[in-house]
Amino acid sequence: MPGPSRRRLRRTSLIALVAALALTAAACGGSLDEEGGGEEGSGSVKVGLALPASGVYEPLGVDMTRGFELYLEEQQGKLGGKEVEVVKADEGEAPDTGVPAVQKLVTQDKVDALVGIVNSATALGVKDTVSQSKVPLIVANAGADEVADGGDYVWRTSFTNGGVGEALGGAVAEELGNESVYLMAADYAAGRESVAGFKKSFEAAGGKIAGESFTPFGTTTDWQPFLSKAQNSGAKAVYVFYAGGEAVNFVKQYKSFGLGEEIQLYGAGFLTEGGVLAAQGKAAEGVRTSLHYSDQLDTPENKEFVDAYTKAYDAPPTVYAVQAYDAAAALDLALKDADGTSGEAIAKALGGIGEIESPRGTWSFDEDHNPDQPYFLREVQAVDGGFANAVLNELS
Ligand code: PHB
Repeated sequence: MPGPSRRRLRRTSLIALVAALALTAAACGGSLDEEGGGEEGSGSVKVGLALPASGVYEPLGVDMTRGFELYLEEQQGKLGGKEVEVVKADEGEAPDTGVPAVQKLVTQDKVDALVGIVNSATALGVKDTVSQSKVPLIVANAGADEVADGGDYVWRTSFTNGGVGEALGGAVAEELGNESVYLMAADYAAGRESVAGFKKSFEAAGGKIAGESFTPFGTTTDWQPFLSKAQNSGAKAVYVFYAGGEAVNFVKQYKSFGLGEEIQLYGAGFLTEGGVLAAQGKAAEGVRTSLHYSDQLDTPENKEFVDAYTKAYDAPPTVYAVQAYDAAAALDLALKDADGTSGEAIAKALGGIGEIESPRGTWSFDEDHNPDQPYFLREVQAVDGGFANAVLNELS
């Protein structure tokens, strides 16, 4: 198991000091359970974990549960020195299951804080509920740009769809010079926002667009008509947003259509992440993507994390696992500083946690409560008899 990060080590010394002072105060007649920063090491906190345990995003829910539980285990089951009670609810696939799951955690289980949410539509559907109930929500995946907008109770440890696309646009424009790119994406919020983000930085860097197609979300099984359009457009590269099962089918068809040789495929990193890449196999070789994580990142923090995760679950970690691991870390740091466990106190403390040293690199919340983080250019390469997202460089 990885030891605490440098920041956590600094915090640990501080906790030891605070604990010593608290004990001294207790010996002098003070109370360890008084409200305020001095109650570290006492009490408990109830955390609601809303993640898919069913539906197309179930594998993402598995990875995220593992990431959250690994962090908790490393902290001996405590966050901010408080014993943690985790209450799980199945987000399912879409808002019709996700919204009631969150409502139950808030009204029936009366959790102190919420972590999770994979689907953007679900995140948008619960945003107002959590704000009105004053229960802090740490979104650990859903990328819709307007989920976190600086409202007091919604925070995000993952990404914005636009941000992942925008990170890649400049690098592709530079690579292509005078040549153009064709854009293709699943026709829903995540796909449209991803393409808009890419376009923004690509065009700002002088890039030219040859055309675009938005494919019906969840029902497209044959990409041939769209791939023909891309080929006939004269583009020298394609940028796409596809995730889950759509990513598997798209990449396999791109390869069998023969485009892989002549038109470089780029995408948001979900295109080749985790189980999706395992299912694509050789068809994904050479695909280039942007993302805020790869299990191949060559840093001591990531190597430690990959070792601990692989030992615990017999599978390499994914971006989804890291996002949930960091949600636990953010909550840990906030609870150390919070004046009690009220929603107001936790939300206020989240605003002051500063930098998080994560397997992905160092990041912090920006003013809208989204991660201000590094993005990486990754390329699928053959590694150790399988395929992995090798890191080519950090994107600026
Ligand atoms: C989203 O709905 O925002 C979403 C879902 C799955 C992903 C990425 C984004 O892999």
